[in-house]
This record gives sequence, structure tokens and C-alpha cells, in this order.
Amino acid sequence: MAHHTHTLATHAGREDFREIGVHAPPLDLSTTYPVADLEEGRDSIDALAGGAGQAASPIYARLHNPTVSRYEDAFASLEGAEAGVAYASGMAAIHAVLMALRVRDLEEQKQRNHILAIRPLYGCTDHLLSIGLLGFDVDWVAADQVAHSITQKTAMVLIETPANPTLSLVDIRQVVAQAGEVPVMVDNTFATPILQQPLALGATFSVHSGTKYLGGHGDVLAGLVASSEFWAKRLRQVRILTGGNLHPMAAYLLHRSLPTLPMRVEKAQANAKDLVERLAQHPMIKQVYYPGFGQQDPKGLVGTQMSGGGSVLAIELHGSFADAAHVMRKVELFTPAVSLGSTDSLIEHPAGLTHRIVDEAARTEDGISESMLRISVGIEHAEDLWRDLQQALDSLQLKVRQPA
Ligand SMILES: Cc1ncc(COP(=O)(O)O)c(C=O)c1O
Repeated sequence: MAHHTHTLATHAGREDFREIGVHAPPLDLSTTYPVADLEEGRDSIDALAGGAGQAASPIYARLHNPTVSRYEDAFASLEGAEAGVAYASGMAAIHAVLMALRVRDLEEQKQRNHILAIRPLYGCTDHLLSIGLLGFDVDWVAADQVAHSITQKTAMVLIETPANPTLSLVDIRQVVAQAGEVPVMVDNTFATPILQQPLALGATFSVHSGTKYLGGHGDVLAGLVASSEFWAKRLRQVRILTGGNLHPMAAYLLHRSLPTLPMRVEKAQANAKDLVERLAQHPMIKQVYYPGFGQQDPKGLVGTQMSGGGSVLAIELHGSFADAAHVMRKVELFTPAVSLGSTDSLIEHPAGLTHRIVDEAARTEDGISESMLRISVGIEHAEDLWRDLQQALDSLQLKVRQPA
């Protein structure tokens, strides 16, 4: 029976609880497992080394962990994917996707070392691609240039929508259509599977920093990839060989956060919409960036590709780096910190922090200015959030009018 999202989030990965006699996901912290039957052990090694999601014995924690695997299945069902594969962080997940492309090349005896990517991306993703650390050549293209930029050597097209930090949207279907046989990776961190399911739109990989909404409480570092079983096999092989495993305690916490994911996303999104309208009226604000706000979604992707704009927004001040720093100093309820997707609200400065590592010219071209602040809206009361931002912005206005 197909369930609604709230029900799915509450019950996914818990289907066997009655059978095994528990009411919370069992937390298995073993690093190694007894191999009483050597034939079974040998067959398990063969299966897991080949990328299987299960085997008779987990053998060793880098090969398999039941708590992690249980959460992966739950996550995959929310993404509408055949499989989910978990990693120690979002960056480990992105690294694994790039390495899974290499695994396929080794199998097919091909060398596809070209990546197409659309900016902006999260700072470390941008930097990982830009410096060529993993041996891929990257071409940065506009969304409508994908088709004619693809070559025989193109291994993947990589996009983020909504993008960090400008909240710009990319039409996933349009990119997939242009990519043809070339896999498309969508970083779905900002939208979460509650608002957007990239695989249903034709993407090959939907990747998350699980550190954000999936964890949701600012206490878990995690990365997730949703994909077909074909790719999951290769992703697990990469994990076994490079060891970017998610800790089972982190998987347990992610699973604990799953039932409240839809509610958290919905409440934070309602708060964000409220703040966007009010922020846009404040005299110190030059521009508010939010999916679907003003003229920012000419293709109407909010409501079609994604069911709502989410709960991250960015503001550009009439002002400078120092003025942005002033606002970050003045807020009391908002935590001045990087990261996003927590129950509590955060505010950060992309040019100075999360996107500091991005090439300055690219940053400027993407509109990541010195007076931009990125805001992750939490689930507090909207009035309290507004009052906090308002007093910080009013104090900036006062400072501008009456310089010290
Ligand atoms: C959109 C996006 N993708 C990936 C990452 C990397 O995730 P992690 O910090 O969990 O490695 C981040 C981190 O901020 C992010 O915002």
C-alpha cells in the first residue's frame, strides 16, 4: 500500500519491528562480526565486495552495518529510489559519486574524465571540482549549454537546485534531456526529498548533505546518495575501498529525525515565506533571494519541480562586508554560524565563510556579494524571528545614518 509522505517518514525502515520485537531501530556498534561458518563468511565477502546491499554476515563494519543499512532503505523510499548509500559527510558522498563513475569506467575500460557543472554550488563542491583533485576536468556551463558541451569523455553533469547560496533554480528535466545517456547528479540538500525528488525527474543521483535537514538538529555529520541499484553497487564498492562510512550512531540519529522531517520542512518553509515578504520591505535590504519570490522563477519550477521554496533564503544589504558583519553580530535568536537545516535558525556570510574557497571572479559572477547573508530559517515562531532580524537591520540603519 502506498502511503502519504508523513506516514512513510514515520514508518520507513521500521517495517519488521513487530517481527523482531523492538519499537526503536536497533543500534549495532560492532566493528567486527563472528564468522563461525567460513563458507558463509567467504560468500558474504564476495557479495559485499561486489557491492551487494546485504549478505549473510556483515563481516566487518566498513563492509556493512545493519543500522546504517536500515536507515539507507528508509531514506531511499522517501527519495523514491531503488537504493540509498550513506557516507560520513556530504562531501564524502559527492566524492563517492565521482569515484563510482571511475568504477564504471574501469569495468567498461573507458576513460571519461570530463564533468559539466552549473554554478553556483556549495563552496567545497565547487573547490573539489575546480582544483582537479580527483582527476576530472570541469567545464562550468549555463543550464542551456549542457547539450552542446557534452563530449565522449563526459562522465557526469552536476547541479544543485536550489543552489547554495543564491537559491537559484535549475530545471532538472531540461538538464536531463540535454545530458542524454550521461548521468546527472542533483544535490538535493536544500529541497530534501519532501519538496523534490530528482530521480523521478530523470536524475541518476540525488545527493544530500545529511548534516542539514535529514539530521535536522545540528548534531549529525552525514552524506546520502539515492540512486538505482546499479549505481548503489558501485557506490558501496567505493565505500568499502575508501572508508567514508557513516557511523551507526549517526545513522540512528538520522532515522530518529526522519518522522519529523516533513513537519520540520513544512514549518520552516512557512516561516521562511513569512520572513521573505517582510525582509523585502526593509529599507536596508537591496534584494531577497528565495525560490519563486518576485521574478526569480520564470520557468515556474516552484510548484512543479519542487513543491515549495524551502526554508533557506539569502539577503543582499544596501551596504558592505562590515555591514553584513554588523547584522551577524546583532542577531540574538539566529545563531551566526555556517550549516543549515537545523530546527533553530542560522545566519552566515557566504563570501566570507561557506563560499570563501570559491574562485573570487566566479563568486562575483554568481552574485555572491560582500553584503550577502544566507539565512537558514528554523521552526521557531515567525514573529520572534522577524523581530530579531528587524532589530538587527534597524540597528544597521541607525549605524549608517549616524556613523560612529
Ligand atoms: C548543498 C550542500 N552540499 C553538500 C554539502 C557538504 O556537506 P557536508 O558538510 O555534510 O560534508 C553542503 C554543506 O554545507 C551543502 O550545503
